[in-house]
Amino acid sequence: MKKVNMKINIAGVELENPVMTASGTFGSGKEYGEYIDLSELGAVVVKGVASTPWKGNPSPRIAETYGGMLNSVGLQNPGIKEFIKEDIPFLKQYDTKIIVNIAGRTVEEYCEVVEALGDTDIDLLELNISCPNVKEGGVCFGTDPFMVEEVTKEVKKVAKQPLIVKLTPNVTDIVPIAKAAVKGGADALSLINTLLGMKIDIHRRKPVLANRMGGFSGPAIKPVAVRMVHQVAEAVDVPIIGMGGIMTGEDAIEFILAGATGVAVGTANFADPTATIKVIEGIENYLLEYGFENIEELRGNLLG
Ligand code: FUM
Repeated sequence: MKKVNMKINIAGVELENPVMTASGTFGSGKEYGEYIDLSELGAVVVKGVASTPWKGNPSPRIAETYGGMLNSVGLQNPGIKEFIKEDIPFLKQYDTKIIVNIAGRTVEEYCEVVEALGDTDIDLLELNISCPNVKEGGVCFGTDPFMVEEVTKEVKKVAKQPLIVKLTPNVTDIVPIAKAAVKGGADALSLINTLLGMKIDIHRRKPVLANRMGGFSGPAIKPVAVRMVHQVAEAVDVPIIGMGGIMTGEDAIEFILAGATGVAVGTANFADPTATIKVIEGIENYLLEYGFENIEELRGNLLG
């Protein structure tokens, strides 16, 4: 069978293919190892890691909705020490790239995590200034262009690996936010994180999530995500990792045509733990069907 070139480059790091996991939907991959070979993925993007362990928000913190789900996990994580001891050695068994999503309540906390990762064998950092489920850090930084530039600049000063900044869709216009991240030194951008949503149990007359609101993800948000990737790709020159409701190879192709270099699969992993592999196969099939030899030929290649 004819082969297609699926390799992409994010800030100097070469990935075998454009498909990654979306942070927070894949842990560090341990639960998925029995379903898929992690070496087949372009990269594993791990759940957000903070400087100390966080226990997350009270339950219930997951709710299904039409076309997706809400989560208010609150960045539960084991802290950077445990992550370096347990999760990096686990992931290094596989021939894939490791991207670490960085959580923090303050600029100092983000920097602590990034410094701790400085001498480890991970490939890229993803700065999480877009989680809607925490009272400090997260989306509180990500909605203000001034703060986005400042926090990016401070983290970039101490980062030894290239820095991706993950953006929130919970803004009126994502373009000034994207430009601020790039001005602060972001080597790449990932978008979108979840949309703030709410579900009410009408029989109990209470919010379903203990935290009242949560991040909405899944196929229902895909048109919003594709639109934002397109807008940002027209406005900045750094690589974009597109995500938001990707369930199939065809969905991923939409993001690449909108201007994304890489794509991340999130909520689909919960419905089908082999979703990432099916997305890789779907992209390959599309390239073959339409006569493209190289995935790079497809990026931003919109005809209208
Ligand atoms: O609540 C959470 O752990 C979600 C994180 C995120 O959306 O980045």
